[in-house]
Amino acid sequence: MTRPHIPVMAGEVLELVVPRASCVLVDLTVGAGGHAGEFLAASAPTGQVLASDRDARALSIAEERLAEFGDRVRFLQADSVIALKTWRDAGHRPDAVLLDLGVSSMQLDDEQRGFSLREDAVLDMRMDRDQPKTAADVINKSSTGKLERILREYGDEPRSRKLAEAFVARRRERPFRTTGDLRRVVEDVLGHKGGRIHSATRTFQALRIETNRERELLQKALPMAIDLLAPGGRLVVIAFESGDDRIVKQAFLDAAEAGAGEVLTRRPLRPGRDEVGRNRRSRSARLRAFARQD
Ligand SMILES: C[S@@+](CC[C@H](N)C(=O)[O-])C[C@H]1O[C@@H](n2cnc3c(N)ncnc32)[C@H](O)[C@@H]1O
Repeated sequence: MTRPHIPVMAGEVLELVVPRASCVLVDLTVGAGGHAGEFLAASAPTGQVLASDRDARALSIAEERLAEFGDRVRFLQADSVIALKTWRDAGHRPDAVLLDLGVSSMQLDDEQRGFSLREDAVLDMRMDRDQPKTAADVINKSSTGKLERILREYGDEPRSRKLAEAFVARRRERPFRTTGDLRRVVEDVLGHKGGRIHSATRTFQALRIETNRERELLQKALPMAIDLLAPGGRLVVIAFESGDDRIVKQAFLDAAEAGAGEVLTRRPLRPGRDEVGRNRRSRSARLRAFARQD
């Protein structure tokens, strides 16, 4: 049984996006519809959500969970950049945009998807299963240098060179097919534990970020989202990885310097102890917000 995804820092998000009558939220990572549902309830009866996700399965779960709100919510399967272009070309100027980054609990718990190192699943990791490149393609086809860079930049992996060499040596014998293949090679090289986390956690994170072009999309989406906002509108971003958070912080500083608006969070907001107790997944969340100039 899949655990439902619990929206992270939902109270803080609602305080920042200020749901009012007739206001519009663009939710670029609707997932299970947790944040979107809270916004729709708080902005009843006229608030609207333009909801998108690149994962067709997530979108159908969100459609089902948000069905009670009828035509106050519209759905689109698209990555964040395509969704922003679509809403812009349709002439929307939302009051708020939300990006709640990374993977959902549903994706992590789905044994078919290959996001979790706990399972022995096909090494897939695509959020959008229509895209051709899987995590197995990345690990089986990238050069040693590229694998080293992916592990270092996206996983902060200190033993990136050693691991990249081990992956290339292993795939010469037999290509990687499953998450277990990958986990076992990392364990052979680094042992089982890398401090508090499993030694393969950084490798899995790095491979997921590369497979889904997460950093590239984030870099592009942030200025586009600020441009799309109505005057005074707010962009809220929740990041779970320090690399994502650095990109958000820099993009907000650049936008403020260019006169596009104001950073509302000098330091990122963090979940309270109660929330972390209720939902362990929230523990690494960092929330930043930006207000477009009036
Ligand atoms: C943390 S979950 C969002 C959960 C959601 N806020 C909720 O309360 O249910 C992240 C979702 O964003 C999607 N996602 C991640 N990066 C994306 C991107 N660049 N473009 C579109 N969707 C993305 C994932 O497929 C996943 O469903």
